[in-house]
Amino acid sequence: MTPGADVGDLFSLKARGALVVGGTRGIGRAIAWRLAKGGARVVANYVREQASAASLDQEAVQAGVALETFRADVTSSTGINSLVEFVAGRFERLSILVYAAASGVHRPFDQLTVRQLEWTFHLNVRAFFEVVQRFTSRMQTGSTIVALSSEGAVHAIPQYSLVGASKGALGSMARHMAAELAPRGIRVNILSPGTVLTEAWKVLPDAERRLADAAKRSPLGRLNTLEEVAWAAQFLCSDAASGINGHTLVVDGGARIVG
Ligand SMILES: NC(=O)c1ccc[n+]([C@@H]2O[C@H](COP(=O)([O-])OP(=O)(O)OC[C@H]3O[C@@H](n4cnc5c(N)ncnc54)[C@H](OP(=O)(O)O)[C@@H]3O)[C@@H](O)[C@H]2O)c1
Repeated sequence: MTPGADVGDLFSLKARGALVVGGTRGIGRAIAWRLAKGGARVVANYVREQASAASLDQEAVQAGVALETFRADVTSSTGINSLVEFVAGRFERLSILVYAAASGVHRPFDQLTVRQLEWTFHLNVRAFFEVVQRFTSRMQTGSTIVALSSEGAVHAIPQYSLVGASKGALGSMARHMAAELAPRGIRVNILSPGTVLTEAWKVLPDAERRLADAAKRSPLGRLNTLEEVAWAAQFLCSDAASGINGHTLVVDGGARIVG
């Protein structure tokens, strides 16, 4: 990076290889799209929803951006192996790794099972650990990792104990990675959106009321958009954030400062 570079150049991701795990729907999709629009060559990974992946592939071809999707379950070693192999076939080096995949069970604490805990932590924590371990050997100085967290990592939210605890662990893991990988020139940050309307909300109990409450609680008086989260992701992945490491960037319109 050149001191005094143009602000546009600082945010550019031109020709960088990027992987977005969980990148075909919701926030991950918006991030994959933004990184590609910022100039990166992007692989957007998913596991089940073929139709969403196909529509993203089609939109990328129409827009002329370098983005393709790849199906792989990151909770299985076969899935991680196939993802590593696919990405290696696309880029010589990986410069950007965004971990957006997450899942979980939303129930009161005393109705949850150990099996549900293991399932949630497998995708939200263990797979993050494994994916980063597998890809850092292909990352050189100047590379970045961004992990998607949520407010539940730090605040108690009704029926969110499993996901919240897994996000707390993910954030702690990311901060330890940030300290250990910095000497190799790899930055690791956490992006923590407030409530954003995605399909994930469809399965949540009492979603409509909770979405309305979240909009009211935000000093901005509305939910944040997918694009607003994606802009923050581009910033964290760019040279404009070269001094930012181990940080949690909250994109919630100020909701967390008021309650
Ligand atoms: N939405 C919010 O209000 C909100 C707020 C704060 C934080 N977040 C965080 O932001 C991230 C994205 O949330 P979202 O609401 O956009 O989620 P989403 O719409 O449910 O999308 C999840 C993505 O992860 C993929 N995925 C799920 N399991 C996978 C696996 N085993 N292997 C590979 N990919 C897998 C999904 O693929 P398929 O399409 O194939 O299932 C999909 O592309 C999550 O980490 C979430 O915790 C969301």
